[in-house]
Amino acid sequence: MDSAPPDLRARLDELLAAAREAREGAYAPYSNYTVGAAVLAGGRIVTGANVENASYSVSICAERVAAGHAVAHGLRDLQAVAVVGPGDDPITPCGVCRQFLNEFNPNLVVVSEGTSGERFAEPLSGLLPEAFGPANLEDR
Ligand code: THU
Repeated sequence: MDSAPPDLRARLDELLAAAREAREGAYAPYSNYTVGAAVLAGGRIVTGANVENASYSVSICAERVAAGHAVAHGLRDLQAVAVVGPGDDPITPCGVCRQFLNEFNPNLVVVSEGTSGERFAEPLSGLLPEAFGPANLEDR
């Protein structure tokens, strides 16, 4: 992504590689659609994969596993998230994950790569415009 700061841009390959590796940990026996994610937070890389459940709606996406993992370890300053699925085309986080990520940084960079090598990179604010966030709760 051209508009990402150079230090961040330099780490996007590394972040995608971490997401690709994390995908191997996915538990997706129902959809058989395995996803890996990696967040860059406080200069560190924290990974996750989707974890499904027999009660389907309880399933959790890779992005929320990775971001939750980072935050639970005190790394709240999310700078970027990489996501890798099984398809040729890059995928982007679902609506629930967009909202979850927005809590920590509306401008975090979302990067994704499909098996074809095609890459997607955009700030989250472009994927979730006019987001509802923590500041809205100050208006009470
Ligand atoms: N999934 C993710 O983990 N991340 C995405 O960005 C899209 C979808 C998961 C949820 C579910 O386990 C499976 O992929 C099929 O929807």
